Amino acid sequence: MAGKGFTVKKDWDNPREHAMPAVARVPAEVRLGSVLVAPATVLAPMAGVTDTVFRRFIRHASLFTAASASASVSVSVSVGASAGVGASAGVGEASVDTAVTNAQSGCGLLMTEFTSADGLARMRETKRRRYLTFYDDEHPIGAQLFGANAETLAEAARIVEETGFDTVDLNLGCPAKRVVGSNGGSGLLRDLPRIGEIFRAVRKSVTIPFTVKFRLGWNDADIVCLELARMAEAEGLNGLALHARTREQGYSGQARWEWIARVKQAVGIPVIGNGDIRSPEDAAAMVEATGCDGVMIGRAAPANPWIFRQIAQYTATGTYERPTVEDRYRMIRAYFQMLLDEAEATRDLPRDARMGETAGKMKQFATWFTHGVAGGAKLRRSIYEAKTGAEVLAQVDLFFTAQAASGAETAATPEDDAASDFPEDMLVCG
Ligand SMILES: Cc1cc2nc3c(=O)[nH]c(=O)nc-3n(C[C@H](O)[C@H](O)[C@H](O)COP(=O)(O)O)c2cc1C
Repeated sequence: MAGKGFTVKKDWDNPREHAMPAVARVPAEVRLGSVLVAPATVLAPMAGVTDTVFRRFIRHASLFTAASASASVSVSVSVGASAGVGASAGVGEASVDTAVTNAQSGCGLLMTEFTSADGLARMRETKRRRYLTFYDDEHPIGAQLFGANAETLAEAARIVEETGFDTVDLNLGCPAKRVVGSNGGSGLLRDLPRIGEIFRAVRKSVTIPFTVKFRLGWNDADIVCLELARMAEAEGLNGLALHARTREQGYSGQARWEWIARVKQAVGIPVIGNGDIRSPEDAAAMVEATGCDGVMIGRAAPANPWIFRQIAQYTATGTYERPTVEDRYRMIRAYFQMLLDEAEATRDLPRDARMGETAGKMKQFATWFTHGVAGGAKLRRSIYEAKTGAEVLAQVDLFFTAQAASGAETAATPEDDAASDFPEDMLVCG
């Protein structure tokens, strides 16, 4: 489904490495209007990824307190007796049902995937719920909308506010043809007056903080991010997030952080930097290079759900720990259990269909999550062939149990390490 006319190749295979800067750290907090985001880290909206299960998984994987930092940093999501490999409870371990305060979590703000304003305004109440479902432990949480019509977006923003979201965000980054074709997403980057209209209409319609996420511009000849940022500030938006690539760039090349720095210079409202953060080093380097008020992390989150926790740990202690194979096993089981529980709790679909769908999500996640794990390439192949969620789970159990039994910490091969691929048709939305 990836649109023609822009490349979706991302330069993940050849990333720029950053050393940890001497002084700069991700800020402890940033205020988006009335909403305190602490620490100043945001899970990027990702279509097909950041649903309620994934968001809660990230929030709980991010559990971090300074007190627990000196002890082992192990997976904080309890997965019950099925965890296997004799995993012992880590410091800070919590049930996924435990209320997580914002301050305890390394992830300061969760975001939904983008939702069509047109669709939302037209949907029946029950269907809306499905799209805008979130749980209490997801606060603070922002809902992202896309669309091109100011009135429809204002109406959809009202629905978002009524549903209980803490912030509403406008997507001006999506390069997908079907979105751009109807002037939504990055299509609007060529029509600043229309963006102004939308800003005004949405601002008037809600009292919750209103933010915008955008790209540099349509292409290198038409960079509009500075003008757009100033407009956002003038129209009363409470913050902005910049994915520092153009629409034409898709996901190729490097994010151009220098533009984040320029936008930060241009406005007084909070600027969240986004693009190519894969590690705590990258996050701190972005803060140092740009002076941004917070960082937003997308593709790295499913590959390394600990990243928010690692950033928080680094900020508190000057060091951070990397997950062991055992941690990975518990983590993957925890996520799978959450998927199964959600399917059970919602009962939207017949049992068979539910399992099929869950298997798809499991496969997707297992693929991202096992990059860099020794033997991961082989595991990915066997997972790919599995037909049901139960089979995926069995392959995962088999793999990690064998690893634990061998006791050997073998190194990952280049194949195991290969870049965590997002299928091209997923790389379309921001
Ligand atoms: C699978 C996928 C889906 C995405 N969906 C959205 C979306 O719904 N809304 C949005 O604003 N950006 C979306 N994006 C873009 C991300 O939010 C983010 O801007 C981009 O991935 C760059 O950040 P990263 O380098 O940390 O991944 C998506 C990205 C990916 C990989």
